[in-house]
Amino acid sequence: MSARRKLIVVANRGPVSYARDAAGERIAKRGGGGLVTALRSLVAHHDVTWIASAMNDEDREVAEEHGGDAFDETSREGSPYRMRLVAHEASAYDWYYNVVANPTLWFLQHYMWGLPYAPDVDLGLHNAWFNGYLPVNEGFARATVAELDREPDAAVFFHDYHLYLAPKLVREERPDALLAHFVHIPWPETDYWHVLPEHLRRAVHEGVLANDVLGFHTERWKRNFLRACEDILGADVDYDDSTVVHDGRRTQVTSHPLGIEPGEFDDLRADPAVLEQEQAIVERRPEFLVLRVDRTDPSKNVVRGFRAFALFLDMHPELHGRVTLLALLDPSRQDVPEYSEYLAAIQREARTVNDRFQSEGWTPIDLQIADNFAQAVAAYKQYDALLVNAVFDGLNLVSKEAPLVNERNGVLILSENTGSHEELGDWALTVNPFDIYGQAQAIHEALAMDPDEKRRRLEQTRASVREHDLAAWIAAQLADLDRVGVAFAHGDDRGSH
Ligand code: G6P
Repeated sequence: MSARRKLIVVANRGPVSYARDAAGERIAKRGGGGLVTALRSLVAHHDVTWIASAMNDEDREVAEEHGGDAFDETSREGSPYRMRLVAHEASAYDWYYNVVANPTLWFLQHYMWGLPYAPDVDLGLHNAWFNGYLPVNEGFARATVAELDREPDAAVFFHDYHLYLAPKLVREERPDALLAHFVHIPWPETDYWHVLPEHLRRAVHEGVLANDVLGFHTERWKRNFLRACEDILGADVDYDDSTVVHDGRRTQVTSHPLGIEPGEFDDLRADPAVLEQEQAIVERRPEFLVLRVDRTDPSKNVVRGFRAFALFLDMHPELHGRVTLLALLDPSRQDVPEYSEYLAAIQREARTVNDRFQSEGWTPIDLQIADNFAQAVAAYKQYDALLVNAVFDGLNLVSKEAPLVNERNGVLILSENTGSHEELGDWALTVNPFDIYGQAQAIHEALAMDPDEKRRRLEQTRASVREHDLAAWIAAQLADLDRVGVAFAHGDDRGSH
C-alpha cells in the first residue's frame, strides 16, 4: 500500500446518504453502485475529502447545517474522512441527473438507442444541458476549488459521466492542480458520439482532457477514447504512450480494471445476515440454480436474459421443474421514464415466462426486486450458473464478486461486451448479449459441464480476481498520479498552463 496521500474525491454519489429512522433519528445509509463500493476503501488508507451531491432532503439539511462546507465523518470500518455535500438547485439537479447524465450520456456510452427513434436532441435536452448539467458541474468545480484552497497539494480524483465539464472549470481556476478522472463506464466509438451535436461532444472531450490522467477499465474503452480525441477534436494522439495533447496540455490515458476486496467477501461468507438469507435460498432451490444480480438498468439486458432462459426451457423439457432462474434486481433511477418502463418490461417478461412454464411447486423465474446485499451474497454462494449478459458494461463487479464466494463450482456466463471479459473471458462461457439462442445454449452448457472443468474454471477466475484486487487498482491510480506529478515537477511539457 502506497504512502498516505491527500485526495479530493469528486463523485456524484457519496459514500453515505442521510435519512431518518422510524424513531426520527438521523442515520447514514451506505451509497449503492460499483463506484462507491470501489472508493470506500480509499478512505481507510488516505486523507480523503469526498465531494458529492446532496441527493435528498436529509442530505440537503446536513449540507445546510455545515453552511455548505466539509464536515467530519467516520466510515463503517472506523476511518475518519471529510465529506462535503453540494446542495444543487433542485431543478438543475433534476435536469442533470434525470435528463443529461442517465438517459443521455449513460445511454450514449452503452449504445442503448435504436437511432431511427431516439434520441431527440430537442429543446428540453439543450435546456437540461445548459441549465442542469453545466451548473451542477460548476457547483462541483466551485467546491473542488474551495477544497484545493485548503489543501493546495491534494490530488483531485473525479469520477464518471456526471462530471465531464468540471475538470476544465477547475483547471481554469487552478492551472497547476493535479487532476485525475476515472470513467467507470464504456467509451463508445466516435461515430456514436455524433448523436450529440458538435458543441456538446466537443465539450465532453475537452472537459475530460483538462485532467492530467484519465482512466478506463479496459484497453477497449481507452482505444475508443483515443480515437475519439483524434476524430472529434483533431487532438494529437500518441497511441504507443496513450497520451493526448490538446490545447497545449498533455493527458495520460490509462486502463486499469477495477478490483474487489477479497477479504471483505471472505468475511461476508459467514456473516449472520448472509447465512440467514442462504438458508432461505437452500430451502427453496431446486436441483440447479441460475442466478443474475443487477440494478434494473436497461444496459444489463435482463429481458433478453429471461427470453434466453425461456428458450433454454423450450429446448430442454427434461429440466422443467429442476432449474430456477433467481433474479435479484436492485431498483435503479426510477425517476427516469426509460428506467421505470424497463422495470415494468422485466416484470412483464418474468410473468410471461412463468405463466407459460410454471407447474405446481415450480416457479421458473424467481424475480426479487429489492436492494438486499446479504441476499445477493447468499445467492453468490449457491448458484450453478451466473448469467451476466449486459448489452455493454464498463466492468461488471458481480462477475468478480460472485465467483469468489461460490460453493458449487458455478459457471460464469459472460457477455463479450463487459469490461471484465477482458480479464475473465478465458474461464467463462462467452455470450453475445443479443444472441438469445447462444445464451440459451450457454445456460445448458454451464449446467451440463464436467465437474472438473467447472472447478478448474472457477479456481482460475478466483486467482485472477484475488490478484487484480482493489488495492492493486488503487495503487495503480496513485502511481499514475505520481508519474505525471513528477513529470510536472521536472518541467516536462505536461502542460503549458
Ligand atoms: C454505476 C455508475 C456509478 C453510479 C452507479 C449507481 O456503477 O458507474 O457512477 O453511482 O452506477 O447509479 P446511481 O445513479 O444510483 O448513482
